[in-house]
Amino acid sequence: MSTQDELKRQAAEAAYAYVQQDAWLGVGTGSTVNHFIDVLAERQPKLLGCVSSSQASTQRLEAAGFVVEDLNVAGDIPLYVDGADEANEHFELIKGGGGALTREKIIAGASERFVCAVDASKQVDLLGRFPLPVEVLPMARSYVARQLVRLGGEPEWREHFVTDNGNPILDVHNLEIMNPIELEDRVNAIPGVVTVGLFARRPADVLIVAAEDGVRTLTRQVPG
Ligand code: 5RP
Repeated sequence: MSTQDELKRQAAEAAYAYVQQDAWLGVGTGSTVNHFIDVLAERQPKLLGCVSSSQASTQRLEAAGFVVEDLNVAGDIPLYVDGADEANEHFELIKGGGGALTREKIIAGASERFVCAVDASKQVDLLGRFPLPVEVLPMARSYVARQLVRLGGEPEWREHFVTDNGNPILDVHNLEIMNPIELEDRVNAIPGVVTVGLFARRPADVLIVAAEDGVRTLTRQVPG
């Protein structure tokens, strides 16, 4: 295991502390989440069931013996565990490197608590060094790309890739995201955009950061 992979495993293990028995569990997508599913497989908590953000996570969960249900069956869920591509000090995230951003955003929205587990390389002062994924309807790909250029980005079609929803992704390079909420709203307002991988309107509640000198758990203070 590489050092980064070892840190992802440590972050995933720390996220397990939030898992509640006899409750629904939302599960994200990616290599950190794969470690989390492996931890679930080892510890076998008694869950009502899981709601998964991708076919890949569903397969891994089912192989580990967990029941995966549709979000429409589960309703609101108490906990969602996922990784991220970047996280800032306000718990705002870029997600979607694995292409599961739309389902991830839906499950995060339906969850009371969103625990995001990352290795320390994902922590940034300013979001945008990681190309911002935008899922689009197929017929709108070029149109949305032109609108993203007008917003100052350099969109690149993620070729040979379609999401679990059957849509293409544009990865937007060279953005310095000074105001994540504003950019999330502006990209979402472009006709043809399904989801932008900025998680600022619904940031993480808990950020678990695994670094070489230890694992830190940060909890977002909700104003008021
Ligand atoms: C998938 C995601 C992942 O959470 C993100 O890409 C991080 O992945 P990893 O844990 O493999 O570094 O948003 O759509």
